[in-house]
Parts: sequence; structure tokens; C-alpha cells
Amino acid sequence: MSITKISLSGMFLVGAVYLGVSAPSKLPDQQASADGACSYAAQHLFEGVNAINDVARTLYTKNIVGGGLKAGLKFGEDWEQPEVEKGPLPALFLRLTAARLERMPPQLGLYLGSDEPINKSNLFSGKQAEAFKKVKETREPVFLTDANENAVAMYPDIASVQPCVSCHNNHADSPKKDWNIDDMMGATTWTFPSETLSADTLIVTTEAMLAAVAEAYQIYLDKTAGFSDPPAIGSAWPKEGRRMLPSAEIFMQRVRQDVALQVVDAMALGLARKINGGTTPCVL
Ligand code: HEC
Repeated sequence: MSITKISLSGMFLVGAVYLGVSAPSKLPDQQASADGACSYAAQHLFEGVNAINDVARTLYTKNIVGGGLKAGLKFGEDWEQPEVEKGPLPALFLRLTAARLERMPPQLGLYLGSDEPINKSNLFSGKQAEAFKKVKETREPVFLTDANENAVAMYPDIASVQPCVSCHNNHADSPKKDWNIDDMMGATTWTFPSETLSADTLIVTTEAMLAAVAEAYQIYLDKTAGFSDPPAIGSAWPKEGRRMLPSAEIFMQRVRQDVALQVVDAMALGLARKINGGTTPCVL
């Protein structure tokens, strides 16, 4: 958690430098009120957390599941059963992250939905189903406000590699058996209870997303500790002949490293474009 904080303040520093803003030389109380004047659109939060989710999911899919399979580790839908020696599939890793996020105060919601889901509870309905059609047409993210006044963002989820297609087409519960590579299979959907937020909330919520990923990964590591032949946990990534897993610290270091620029951009964009409806101009 402290590493997360350090890294995020680092990102803000980079963001400030990126914008050509010099380090503040104001008195602490003046600085506090200047900070309070900054308000962001929820969209900028979504851009950052979505980038974190993308990076973490890709890293988990390629390096942990891909490398792990070669090292003899197994992954499946039934991974949570006590006697089963498997890890979560990528979609279930995302679910685990979303479940951890739900327990944290910032109330950021994450959900991978579809119009042809394997799991019925992932079926879009109402306003989200309409917005999903638009995402499908344009393949661009869509931002909306739902019936409960939540800010909502939907990002396309594309069948980028063959296993997405083959696993879904062969799955007994899949209502669609003819997915092709490059199809849009669903949408990563985010909700946040307000359209605008302060810089403080932006940092805390972005940190919560990183913490949720770390906790989800730790839950997988804890599960492997109970295997009859547990993989060694340290600094190495799994591959053929190497039945090892990186610690949560190493995994998160890599997530932060891969996502840092995108998170800074998402935050800096909030400042640069001043998408504040003109009510609370952000001046540093
Ligand atoms: C080994 C099998 C497997 C692979 C590979 C796989 N999925 Fe899935 N996917 C599933 C299962 C099972 C679920 C349902 C999980 C749940 O219970 O929520 C799911 C859920 C989803 C959902 C939510 C809607 C639904 O069908 O329930 C989307 C969207 C999705 N996957 C897209 C992808 C994409 C894109 C890829 C490739 C990057 C991929 N999947 C790879 C098995 C797989």
C-alpha cells in the first residue's frame, strides 16, 4: 500500500512536470485551497483505472496464465473449490478484482458484461444494453449517466487472441458459438457515484484500483500455497521448466511500470482540457 502511494505521488510529480508546472512554493493552507479548486470529470478517473485493468489483465493472461500453463500450473472456472489446484481464468481474475474493489470506500464499480454472455449475470440490461450497442458500432468508449445518477463508462473488450474465441465457442453455457478473432465480445464497464470528483478522490480511487488488483493476485498466491506441490514465490515469472510465481510486490511493480504513463496522461488530460463544465476551473 505504501509503495502504491509513493508511486502515485511520483506520478503526480511527473504529471506536474509534464504540464510544465513547477513545484508549489505556496504556504500549506494556500496550497490546500488551491488543491480543492481542482475538479475532474469522472471520465478521467475511468481512463486511468481502465488502463490499470487492461495492463493487469494482459500481464495476468500472458505472463501468469500463459507462462504458468507452460510451467504445469492449471487455471479454470472451478478454481475456488477447496480441492481443486487451479488459478482463476482472466475473466474471473477481473471479477475477483471487482469484488475487492467493492469492499473499498471509493465506490468504483467494475463489471465485464456482454450481450452474449457465458454467465447470465454478465448480461447487459436497460440503459447499459443501449449504450453497449453504440460501443459495438463505434468500437469507442461510451460515457453516460445511468438511472441512479452514476457516471458510467464502457470500453470495448475485443477477442484479441485465439483462446478468447475457442474457449467461448466451446463453452457449454455460451449462447454464441461463432465468435471470430477481432469481434467485440463485451465491454469493460465502470461506474462511479458522481460525474465530477476532486483530485484527492481521484488519487484515492486510483490507488484503490491498484490495491484491488494486488489483493486479487494475492488471493491467487494464497490459493497456490495449499497445492500439493506449491510453486515457489519470489521474483521470477513462470515459464517452461520454471514452476515459480512472482510475489504480489513484483507483480504490482510491473503493473505500475507498464501503466504509469497512461495514468499520468489520464490525470493530466483532466487538467489540460479543463472538462469541468466551467464551474470549478482547475488552476494550479
Ligand atoms: C479458458 C476459457 C476462456 C478464455 C481463454 C477467455 N474467456 Fe472470457 N470468459 C470465460 C468464462 C468461463 C466466462 C464467464 C465468467 C463468469 O462466470 O463471470 C468469461 C467471461 C467473459 C466475458 C463476460 C461475458 C460472459 O461471457 O460471461 C467477456 C466479455 C469475455 N469473457 C471476453 C473474453 C476475451 C476478450 C478473451 C480473450 C482476451 C476471453 N474472454 C478469454 C472463459 C474464457
